[in-house]
Amino acid sequence: MVRRLVPDCDVRFLLSQDGSGKGSAMLLEVKTRMSEAMLQGLSKQTHGQASVKMLPTYVRSTPDGTEHGDYLALDLGGSSFRVLLVQMQHEKRHSVDMHQKIYTIPQEIMQGTGEELFSHIVHCISDFLEYMGMTGASLPLGFTFSFPCRQSKLDQGILLKWTKGFKASDCEGQDIVMLLKEAVRRIRGFHLNFVAVVNDTVGTMMTCAHEDPECEVGLIVGTGTNACYMEEMHNIELVEGNEGRMCVNMEWGAFGENGELEDFCTQFDHMVDESSNYPGKQRYEKMISGMYLGEIVRNVLIDFTAKGLLFRGKMSERLKTRGIFETKFLSQIERDRLAMRQVRSILQHLGLTTSTCDDSVIVKEVCSVVARRAAQLCGAGLAAVVDKIRQNRNLNQFSVTVGVDGTLYKTHPHFSNVIRETVEDLAPQCQVTFYKSEDGSGKGAALITAVACRVQNAGD
Ligand code: BG6
Ligand code: GLC
Repeated sequence: MVRRLVPDCDVRFLLSQDGSGKGSAMLLEVKTRMSEAMLQGLSKQTHGQASVKMLPTYVRSTPDGTEHGDYLALDLGGSSFRVLLVQMQHEKRHSVDMHQKIYTIPQEIMQGTGEELFSHIVHCISDFLEYMGMTGASLPLGFTFSFPCRQSKLDQGILLKWTKGFKASDCEGQDIVMLLKEAVRRIRGFHLNFVAVVNDTVGTMMTCAHEDPECEVGLIVGTGTNACYMEEMHNIELVEGNEGRMCVNMEWGAFGENGELEDFCTQFDHMVDESSNYPGKQRYEKMISGMYLGEIVRNVLIDFTAKGLLFRGKMSERLKTRGIFETKFLSQIERDRLAMRQVRSILQHLGLTTSTCDDSVIVKEVCSVVARRAAQLCGAGLAAVVDKIRQNRNLNQFSVTVGVDGTLYKTHPHFSNVIRETVEDLAPQCQVTFYKSEDGSGKGAALITAVACRVQNAGD
């Protein structure tokens, strides 16, 4: 439909998924480039220049169901900030109780100073402990911190760079456990025990692995996108030792920072990148995740309107406003049974009041193309990951479970199917089961903390 109405638009890659085979050749190329980027990130020699950093996490095994005890968990970096109490019972294997409270992080704190951000976090923990009637308690803490961190042990994480909407000053290059502990000292509401730093992908993988031992990959498609998986120690050149496996936080959102995606980017991707918090960074993430898809759609709609193809050529101030087209609208507009009348009412809700029935058809099609491309790109990356694990193990056929979380993945009506189809297509020797995590990654962070405390206590 868009092709018919807009024959000359620059959505090359977006529109090439027409069964001509061109689209799948492009996706295979994305998979190949992702595989190469992974090898670069793992190798000591090329790690420095690699776009995909393949960060060691010091998580060496998935849970075995015997974990127990009470843990605090923090979950920072997704669409909500949560503090949790996670209670695992010794007698009942796999049984976990959770209590949580969601807190807001105002924009001015996300983008203020690091001191303000960490003080805010500590105030939220204090409030949570009071709410749970546990003031003064000292529990081990699993800190799901969904940003790239260099770790040389589990209880340390040097923030390499902020991503998504965060920009707090004086944090990059710092150990976030130290920043948290300093804030606790300043505020003196409670004492902090052991703190494990966990990426959300890793927390998600662990949560799912608690139920399904075949889960060796974690995937997030939410505000941002990223994946982790169990890699052979002898392939992780940045860490001493060759025995066993370790979970690697890929930080695949940064794929494309070395130009790997240039051939597939449209003018709209460039616009979204240029007006983002970090131009030139997180290029793959900007083509896939919830924080950016709405912006891609908005830029396409602006272009179509300027060409007189939409909204009778009338550019509204609303359409020029950054962020009006939230990704949740993409999910809503694409609901299969949604009548055009309802698409129109969503557009009206967005202040795009002059729309006609044709406009609704075009907007729906643009949303569909943008989301489909995102899911295909994500599937191509995932195909590289599962095939790497299969090759590591010298297997002809390989079956694996991927634990997945993230609002976009969970709420979009077609996203998960397109990822699955793409992986089937590009990694035919892998049988991949997707396991939707319902508990967030806080539970996984607590499981990791439990294992770490067990090991620490055994060594004492
Ligand atoms: C949640 C995790 O379940 O998924 C978060 O607990 C994570 O840590 C999130 O960041 C990703 O989803 P979103 O859509 O909230 O960014
Ligand atoms: C961003 C972060 C990454 C996180 C992902 C999903 O890409 O850099 O650490 O896993 O978002 O939340």
